Amino acid sequence: MRLDKYICKSTQLSTSQAVDLIQSGKATINEEVCVFEARQVHDGNIVKINNELLTLRPFRYLMMHKPAGYLCSNKNETHPSLFNILDIDNINVLHIVGRLDVDTTGLVLITDDGRWSYNITHPGQDCSKLYRVGLSKPIATDVIQTFKDGIMLQGCKELTLPAKLTIMQEKDVRLSITQGKYHQVKRMFKAVGNRVNTLHREQIGSVRLDIEEGQWRHLTEQEVLSFSKGIENECSVKP
Ligand code: URA
Repeated sequence: MRLDKYICKSTQLSTSQAVDLIQSGKATINEEVCVFEARQVHDGNIVKINNELLTLRPFRYLMMHKPAGYLCSNKNETHPSLFNILDIDNINVLHIVGRLDVDTTGLVLITDDGRWSYNITHPGQDCSKLYRVGLSKPIATDVIQTFKDGIMLQGCKELTLPAKLTIMQEKDVRLSITQGKYHQVKRMFKAVGNRVNTLHREQIGSVRLDIEEGQWRHLTEQEVLSFSKGIENECSVKP
């Protein structure tokens, strides 16, 4: 982890305050002054500021029910950031795990644990994301097989990974995918001549959305561990 990030994760300082301290020679790693904010801090390193030992806070793992009209970004840009409705300390070290479009609603996971989010977002990890999709036109049943076989999205060189389409009603479907390409669900339906009117993420892996729109909660230990393949012993959950 970068030194500036390490300091933010163990104090109440913002990134710019951490960088100022580092550049003015107040930070040490293993008793040596370090003035480079990008220096990596490794397991077992001793980091101090003004000679005071820093201890990392436990990682945090949250779910949020994203309303439409909010951006999955740490900053307000064209729309307000989702973090405006997250009333929690030290927001600057948190990141959103796999973004939803501004008009998409539903389950968003938020953490400060980069290895954990990799297990959810990297397609090789095979983590499914389940969407409820409202379509503009009735869907043909043969699209089930087309999505299973994979689709060549515009601008891509490889087929999408097998996706599971379940038809609830002719314009109301569920789609489960393990990738997270840009606008993937909308582009998949466009590729078969349809259009997504509404999009809502219901589930990621085994974690189901169970809170009201605009609410958030900490994940349970079991939910955290369900994505902790390879990092089991290191995830500590802050209640
Ligand atoms: N696919 C999309 O097209 N949009 C989303 O927000 C999520 C998946």
